[in-house]
Amino acid sequence: MIKRTFPQSRLRRTRMKGSLRDLVAENHLSTNDLIQPIFIADQTEKKIEIPSMPSIYRHNLDSLYAETEELINKGIKSVAIFPAIDAAKKDKNGSHAFDDKNIVCLALKGLAERFPEVIKIADVALDPYTDHGHDGVLVDNNVDNDQTLELLQDQAMLLAQSGADVLAPSDMMDGRVRVIRNILESNGFVDTVILSYAAKYASSFYGPFRAAVGSSANLGKASKKTYQMNFANLDEALHETAMDIEEGADIVMVKPGTAYLDVVHAIKCEFQIPTFVYQVSGEYSMLQLSIEKGWLDKDVMLESLLCCKRAGADAILTYAAKQIASELNS
Ligand code: PBG
Repeated sequence: MIKRTFPQSRLRRTRMKGSLRDLVAENHLSTNDLIQPIFIADQTEKKIEIPSMPSIYRHNLDSLYAETEELINKGIKSVAIFPAIDAAKKDKNGSHAFDDKNIVCLALKGLAERFPEVIKIADVALDPYTDHGHDGVLVDNNVDNDQTLELLQDQAMLLAQSGADVLAPSDMMDGRVRVIRNILESNGFVDTVILSYAAKYASSFYGPFRAAVGSSANLGKASKKTYQMNFANLDEALHETAMDIEEGADIVMVKPGTAYLDVVHAIKCEFQIPTFVYQVSGEYSMLQLSIEKGWLDKDVMLESLLCCKRAGADAILTYAAKQIASELNS
């Protein structure tokens, strides 16, 4: 880097006016960068607020369509769907995941008919459907990798047939991207995108999400540390990502976001492929609650998202997408 000396260089010069700061800004955030995660449930009420996630709701199908319309009007063009499944429908192997009348399949079909241009992202993982809350098949109290893969490929096919544009394997089983890519190719779904949660850490920041989808009660004190990554590791994230790309991932994702931006940066520099960040439920709730209490200025949300871009993220899944879009448009 060139050597700059004072007073020939006064770095404050380009900070003196807002429009000048905008001209020299190195990174930008726009609605093109934002993906809205949406919780859905089979419920009669249109929408129910989620206690652990201020200003975020669980929607029924009618309300999902209304919400999507609102998002489109604000310039958001991608949604990620997450279901809260009735406890009575959960079982050991998550069999409701393979029912083409489940709420996710219905939502994908309904969205595909009404909003063909909207990018519909669906998680490939069993945890919303299992009565133990884990992402895979339990054998002797261990999540069995290879038996889980058998189920994941079927779930992936069903989601693609229901209208998902993007499949997002989120369970961190080894080899899942390959089996999903193979089944898509052999069934003619050659354009279905795989967004792999390549570096997903075993994180306590997922707490509010698990409460929202009802998996925390099932999971109890059990952890996901035998499949999600140890938050002490960075090299391992690069290995995970390299393998997912080799297995057929089009886009890779790091999760959580804010505390893991070194991982985003390392992945983007190493692989130069589309790299997304998931600003997860706990991160959102910490910031949003503080904003609503008046403890933090509302600009903190935009700051946290722009910092994801600076780290190298191409797009961000964030519960604040709709609200930030309103700010960006105003
Ligand atoms: C499920 C899944 C989780 C999240 C997204 N998909 C939770 C988990 O792994 O336990 C977390 C998202 C969030 O916290 O916002 N496999």
